[in-house]
Amino acid sequence: MTTLAVPNIEARLLDILGPEGLMLSAAQMAPFLVDHRQLYHGRARAVAAPRTVEEVSRLLAWCNDERIGVVPQGGNTGYCGGATPDESGCEIVLCMRRLARIRSVDALNYSLLAEAGCTLHEVRAAADAAARLFPLSLGSEGSCQIGGNLSTNAGGLSVLRYGMMRDLVLGLEVVLADGRLLPCAQALRKDNTGYDVKSLFVGAEGTLGIITAANLKLFPQIRSSATAFVALPDIAGAVALLSELRAASGDRVSSFELIPRIAVELAARHIPLVADPLGHPHPWYVLCELSSSEEGTALAEVLERALGDALERGAILDAAIAQNERQRQALWRLRENIPEAQRRDGASLKHDLSLPITVLAQFVERAAAWLDANVPEGRLVAYGHLGDGNLHFNLNQAPGADRTRFLAREAVVKRAVHDLVRDFGGSFSAEHGIGQLKIDELARYAPPVELEVMRAIKRALDPRGILNPGKVLGTEPP
Ligand code: FAD
Ligand code: MLT
Ligand code: ZN
Repeated sequence: MTTLAVPNIEARLLDILGPEGLMLSAAQMAPFLVDHRQLYHGRARAVAAPRTVEEVSRLLAWCNDERIGVVPQGGNTGYCGGATPDESGCEIVLCMRRLARIRSVDALNYSLLAEAGCTLHEVRAAADAAARLFPLSLGSEGSCQIGGNLSTNAGGLSVLRYGMMRDLVLGLEVVLADGRLLPCAQALRKDNTGYDVKSLFVGAEGTLGIITAANLKLFPQIRSSATAFVALPDIAGAVALLSELRAASGDRVSSFELIPRIAVELAARHIPLVADPLGHPHPWYVLCELSSSEEGTALAEVLERALGDALERGAILDAAIAQNERQRQALWRLRENIPEAQRRDGASLKHDLSLPITVLAQFVERAAAWLDANVPEGRLVAYGHLGDGNLHFNLNQAPGADRTRFLAREAVVKRAVHDLVRDFGGSFSAEHGIGQLKIDELARYAPPVELEVMRAIKRALDPRGILNPGKVLGTEPP
């Protein structure tokens, strides 16, 4: 991609976006040039912040003509550097935050049409105001945007009940690389008219088109719930407990999060108002929630009975059931702040793994043994969405370990962990995507034919390679 030779870039951008839609100074652009984890530092020709879909369209048409790379950026909370430009200084960052209207809410149809720059929090609040639920739930909901959630196919804390972002979308409006608009933001639950084109853009991380709006599925609001923090001896016990709770509750488990002892300690140490909910330390915990759209269900009794039985059998070691909303919030505060506690504790290596739930325990045993023997500079902080088989198999710098030496182990650790994941029939990217962080992993583990299909799709939709150049599939000619 060569762009420095294009004359009058700034004048043309001003013409398309107006002065309020353009950032050119180093100070204005700085926050857009580094990713959330500060792994990547890029440069950019400009940051464009269009206010209308038409502006997005005109911008892309012009960038396509001039072969200028465009890097879409939502809330910039992604973990894989997908929203950070490269170091050439030639690309334009496309900031979506001004395209942020809730266009409509159709309570009867259980759907909501939002522009891509709405934060997840704004969408959840708009649904709530219409007595509906938009169920995607992430620790980053105040900053991450719907466009980013769709482009990463985000998962989070309630996938077990409601699915991932892909499952929550009815229709998408997308601007294609050449500026044409794909106006398919329908709110239909059934639509078998040929290929499911919208689905291509979900999880594409901005490499196939710019999502400008989405029609999202809504659900009945939650009217009753029961939440518990349960101590267990091991992961196998947690997997068995999930199965028992699903059966005992009429399948009303909506979250089932695995938490290791060390994560409780990190959260209690680094996050204000977080404390261990139980009196004594235990090796593993789950934060589980039953919920229903029906008022006055006896979910707390169901949970208490099931956990009481499990305690008697010795299947669990202890449990605390939230008695009110304040206690429930405190439990969720602990869980949602684990990534932040990890960040405050020092350097970390993250692995976002997906595994069949039946082999989770065996996988962790094998991988942890390898780490013990080979990576004394790190300590394992393995937590995640156990109900989805999604493990955040993260390592933190051990106390007293040298940061640089620890981070230097990244490639070796990643290879060992991801090879083992492959051997167990899993995936090296469950919910965080590829971005620029995992390009080599995709090339290594994806079946060659699948990669060929992906490249063919990229070629068809972005023949000049202007959309998020180099991300996901790398810099090979498409
Ligand atoms: P960005 O980071 O801005 O962008 C992500 C990708 O999408 C980039 O490739 C970008 O180019 C592309 N993109 C953005 N907007 C558009 C658009 N409109 N059109 C086309 N492409 C676009 N993720 C989970 O899945 N589950 C979790 O539980 C979870 N918890 C988190 C907790 C914390 C504290 C943090 C910081 C992050 C967490 N994340 C989680 C990761 C992150 O929040 C998600 O990946 C989120 O979906 C990213 O949204 P964003 O708007 O910040 O996207
Ligand atoms: C989470 O579930 O908290 C995040 O997706 C994991 C992470 O921050 O590594
Ligand atoms: Zn997660």
